[in-house]
Amino acid sequence: MKTALIGYGKMGREIERILVERGHEVLLRIDLENRADLDAAHLAGIDAAFEFTTPATAFDNLCTCIDCGVPVVCGTTGWTGRLEEAKRRCLERGGALFYASNYSLGVNLLFHLNRQLAEAVERLGAAYDVRIGEVHHTRKLDAPSGTAITLAEETIGRLASKTRWRNYAPGIERAANRLDDPAAAAPDELVIASRREGDVPGIHTVLYESADDRIELRHTILDRRTLALGAVVAAEFLRGRKGVYSMDDLLQ
Ligand SMILES: NC(=O)c1ccc[n+]([C@@H]2O[C@H](COP(=O)([O-])OP(=O)(O)OC[C@H]3O[C@@H](n4cnc5c(N)ncnc54)[C@H](O)[C@@H]3O)[C@@H](O)[C@H]2O)c1
Repeated sequence: MKTALIGYGKMGREIERILVERGHEVLLRIDLENRADLDAAHLAGIDAAFEFTTPATAFDNLCTCIDCGVPVVCGTTGWTGRLEEAKRRCLERGGALFYASNYSLGVNLLFHLNRQLAEAVERLGAAYDVRIGEVHHTRKLDAPSGTAITLAEETIGRLASKTRWRNYAPGIERAANRLDDPAAAAPDELVIASRREGDVPGIHTVLYESADDRIELRHTILDRRTLALGAVVAAEFLRGRKGVYSMDDLLQ
């Protein structure tokens, strides 16, 4: 494939390494200083674009790719209030869009286990409370992470006891004691505790707790490579397809 990288930061560079390893070409690299080059002329002949920028810029970049007929794999998080609009535009204009809040195969297995666990807890009427923790590097712009939001929404959709999520910054340990916290969550709120430290690529924990025991599902990214590989495989999957796709489509 002939590819374009929109956002040449940590993910853009990691994706480039994987593209080269898998025999693809990178013909265009767009970052802040040359962002005006993201246009039909520069995108001509591109088979797939990778959009990994910022919450403020993702939507416009995606629209440019869609309008220019370039299939686009987007991983930018923190802007999904406009995701439905982007999907509609893609479908209306006959484009191809792949969006995932997390491209790691392991995280998508975590999503699968999370859905199963929530369904089992609901079916058994078990007396567990649930909360979610996420840790990322200090340069991450959005909180909670897109992955934590996916975990929360997929849990809320399966548990009658939770109707919405609420983000707390201090970290999962503090949130675990939230009944003593003056900012305690309401019983129907699913707490997401977000922590920012060092260069952590991403740790996500789903914690079910009863008076007597605890169940923890945890995924830890050791190397961003897993995220970049997933994005490249998503672009390979998108080849020759039109429409809107997610990791569920890819994994099936
Ligand atoms: N879905 C996933 O699996 C996944 C994985 C990792 C990161 N992310 C998300 O992807 C995004 C990028 O992550 P990162 O770690 O590469 O961040 P980063 O800060 O290292 O890189 C982002 C790059 O985008 C550039 N940029 C900003 N505005 C731009 C514009 N208008 N056009 C082109 N480039 C522009 C920045 O200069 C920077 O180089 C974040 O939202 C992050 O949360 C998603």
